[in-house]
Amino acid sequence: MSKPHLSGSKTVIFGATGGIGRAIAVDLAHNGKAVHLAGRDADALKALADEISAPYTVFDALDTGSINSVIAEATSDEPVDGLVWAVGSILLKPLSHLSDEDFLTTYHLNVVAPAMAVKAASGSLKSSNGSVLLFSSVAATQGFSAHAAIGPAKAAVEGLTRSLAAELAPDVRVNAIAPSLSETKMAEFLTSNSVLAKGIAAAHALPRLGQPSDFIALSRLLLDNKTGGWISGAIMPVDGGRGTLRTKG
Ligand SMILES: NC(=O)c1ccc[n+]([C@@H]2O[C@H](COP(=O)([O-])OP(=O)(O)OC[C@H]3O[C@@H](n4cnc5c(N)ncnc54)[C@H](OP(=O)(O)O)[C@@H]3O)[C@@H](O)[C@H]2O)c1
Repeated sequence: MSKPHLSGSKTVIFGATGGIGRAIAVDLAHNGKAVHLAGRDADALKALADEISAPYTVFDALDTGSINSVIAEATSDEPVDGLVWAVGSILLKPLSHLSDEDFLTTYHLNVVAPAMAVKAASGSLKSSNGSVLLFSSVAATQGFSAHAAIGPAKAAVEGLTRSLAAELAPDVRVNAIAPSLSETKMAEFLTSNSVLAKGIAAAHALPRLGQPSDFIALSRLLLDNKTGGWISGAIMPVDGGRGTLRTKG
């Protein structure tokens, strides 16, 4: 059951039908924060919007016009003081199978599109001392085989986070969370293979895969000026130690 919203401003969640985006949207709504949902799956988006009584806009991250429409609709009645970009992809292919288009689309979805979203919302974010939350990956800083398209795109998300955090300071804070493999739709092709999933889980110092719920508390902290008000330009791992810890060998 959502609490009535109190703040007079709202958080836009791009990728609201995804595992992590949905978890953040539901958590914020249940804690009295107004949210505007954006996703490309109209039916799933409407179902979530009905569940938490939130407005929504269907969009395609590869179409800047549709990103602009999300922000125009979201800001039509009250300012946007939070923007979450929980859209992403995991394109895992060996270099020999990667085309120019694979690289460019991956970069567009993960880097250009969130930059365009922040650009469209920047007036509203500045006037309301807003907070932006992006998603990187453990693959931004660790080398993994078959990650030649997504690894550099997520490294660029980290560069984008720091660049925008500097450019928009002190009015807007910009941070990113870097997950390791988590059980959501995009990773299903890996996590549904129980042998593979068990092996990857065991490679973490905290030996399991991530769940959407693992990202909720930190997301809320970073979005809220009361709790995250002196944090900007930070890349925070939520990765079971995968990016920094080695417990075997
Ligand atoms: N899960 C992991 O293992 C993992 C690891 C590292 C980083 N991350 C990052 O964490 C963030 C959240 O991902 P997740 O784990 O929650 O995955 P998810 O459940 O697959 O969510 C990704 C979302 O992106 C949306 N999306 C993809 N292409 C789009 C497009 N062209 N236009 C509009 N929406 C589009 C998907 O829409 P649909 O619902 O229509 O498919 C989905 O809602 C992403 O940035 C991801 O790269 C995840």
